[in-house]
Amino acid sequence: MTQLIKINNASLQFADGTVAISDTSLQVEQGEFVAIVGPSGCGKSTLLRLASGLISPTSGTVERSASVQYVFQDSTLLPWRTVKKNVALNLELQKIDPAEIERRTNSAIDLVGLSDSANKLPRQLSGGMKMRVSLARSLACEPQLFLFDEPFAALDEFTRERLNLELRTILQTHNSGSLFVTHSIAEAVFLSHRVLIMSPRPGTIARSVDIPFSTDRSQELRYSAEFAEICGDIASSLRGMAHR
Ligand SMILES: Nc1ncnc2c1ncn2[C@@H]1O[C@H](COP(=O)(O)OP(=O)(O)OP(=O)(O)O)[C@@H](O)[C@H]1O
Ligand SMILES: [Mg+2]
Repeated sequence: MTQLIKINNASLQFADGTVAISDTSLQVEQGEFVAIVGPSGCGKSTLLRLASGLISPTSGTVERSASVQYVFQDSTLLPWRTVKKNVALNLELQKIDPAEIERRTNSAIDLVGLSDSANKLPRQLSGGMKMRVSLARSLACEPQLFLFDEPFAALDEFTRERLNLELRTILQTHNSGSLFVTHSIAEAVFLSHRVLIMSPRPGTIARSVDIPFSTDRSQELRYSAEFAEICGDIASSLRGMAHR
């Protein structure tokens, strides 16, 4: 197994004295999907920023041996660029050969099911479609590791569940690794091999839950007794921490 990222006993204190992350270790391997849940303000986004290299830990280390793409809750599309031009943007900035940009852009747009809308502008798209464009833009960069910060939080439940399923299929095709922050326990359990539960700030990994389901997951899984049991178990861990 190729290890994509390894965070060892990392702590992070901001300049104003706030300790956001305390003595946290985690690793993600190729093909592995790891979700992070935890109370608001516990340091999830900060942990992703540490993983991406945007910030460095005050103590401890971050070993990254993978190219990384960040996907945020806001799709951050350029309003004057078509879907296709938005997806191509990062590749253009990297000065990649135009024929290669064309190939990768078309393939990513196809993967997220937006081929019929490739020439539309962002304002002509629904929220779910915009999120797909944002995902395609990251996919086109062919990263080994994705960092997701609540990417589907602004979507309705039905769209979100559909995108969860699509994301699983896409990531399996690419065999990339993912670190995925979410407030939805069901989303974390449905997508992941492992769910990390963070404690309130200063955040650290309080518990790691292995998700026993096979890689082949359908929407019906969400209505099974075992799924409900795992979600309930994670929810009670979170509730317990809130009342500490
Ligand atoms: N630049 C900064 N300077 C000082 N404190 C910060 C900075 N950025 C974040 N914080 C603090 O660090 C803590 C963790 O913030 P972070 O954004 O990582 O939380 P989060 O778990 O992602 O929360 P949410 O679930 O609401 O998105 C918070 O208390 C926040 O106020
Ligand atoms: Mg956050």
